[in-house]
Amino acid sequence: MPKSSVVGPTTAHPPTRLRSRAPWRLSDIDYAAIDRSQVINDPTLLTLVTMASFVETGSDLYAHVLVSYFDEDPEIAGWLAQSWEHEEVQHGAALRKYVEHAWPDFDWPTVYDTFFEEYAKTCTLPDLEPSHGLELAARCVVEMGTATLYSSLHDYVQEPVLKDLAARIYADEVRHYKHFYRYFRRYQQRERHGRWRVGRTLAKRMFASRDDDGYCAYRHVWRATRTSKGSSVERDYQAFLDRVGTLARRHAPRELPVDMLLRPLQLPAPALTGAKAVARTIYRFWLHA
Ligand SMILES: [Fe+2]
Ligand SMILES: [Fe+2]
Repeated sequence: MPKSSVVGPTTAHPPTRLRSRAPWRLSDIDYAAIDRSQVINDPTLLTLVTMASFVETGSDLYAHVLVSYFDEDPEIAGWLAQSWEHEEVQHGAALRKYVEHAWPDFDWPTVYDTFFEEYAKTCTLPDLEPSHGLELAARCVVEMGTATLYSSLHDYVQEPVLKDLAARIYADEVRHYKHFYRYFRRYQQRERHGRWRVGRTLAKRMFASRDDDGYCAYRHVWRATRTSKGSSVERDYQAFLDRVGTLARRHAPRELPVDMLLRPLQLPAPALTGAKAVARTIYRFWLHA
């Protein structure tokens, strides 16, 4: 996900409401009810949702690597293969279907194929961490980022079907976070990494693949939709990030991502206030940089 596409909690719709969602299926989404008039004149939103659909659809590329990394832990490997991977791929399918209904002029399968060809080869995924515990901490950051994105999207979007879909995906990402965090704590009891090491891992993954993924997806959407031959992808991407950054400032959650970020550090209560101030600064930088 592009950095600025990560936006969070909601002012109009509190996170508690967003979180209380049961598992869902593609058939639960009422695509026939999409009000295209509310999205068709918002190219930033359509581009962002399409980019998210590309990256989520391509997530099984990484999922297989992660499942085999945990193949000696049947509980984690089972959850990854049967729940997590399935849900991430469903996010991609649900967003794809939304784009195909809301933006029928966009040739999703063709553009996705060109994206995936490059993504699989050159948009390198972050290396796995050298220990299972640290990789689980890094996964917490990734889920924090996606939860922030879909919470922000839910807060920003007026179109009811996309608003509903964003809430469903948000709830999944928060649940994924909770699973990874629980597994992290289990491994941390054995591996006992210091807070400095865990913090460095969190920061590294937080700033790692975000721009690569986002820019890779943007380039392919841009090539398929640009209207002027004289335009430049770098310049247009920067302008896109600026627009998304403006939305993030208004719609991103404030506290939940900070808590999600700090939790793997397992700080004692007296250290929390100071740590939160630092984490808020890092989070704002990540969101808007
Ligand atoms: Fe997802
Ligand atoms: Fe997730």
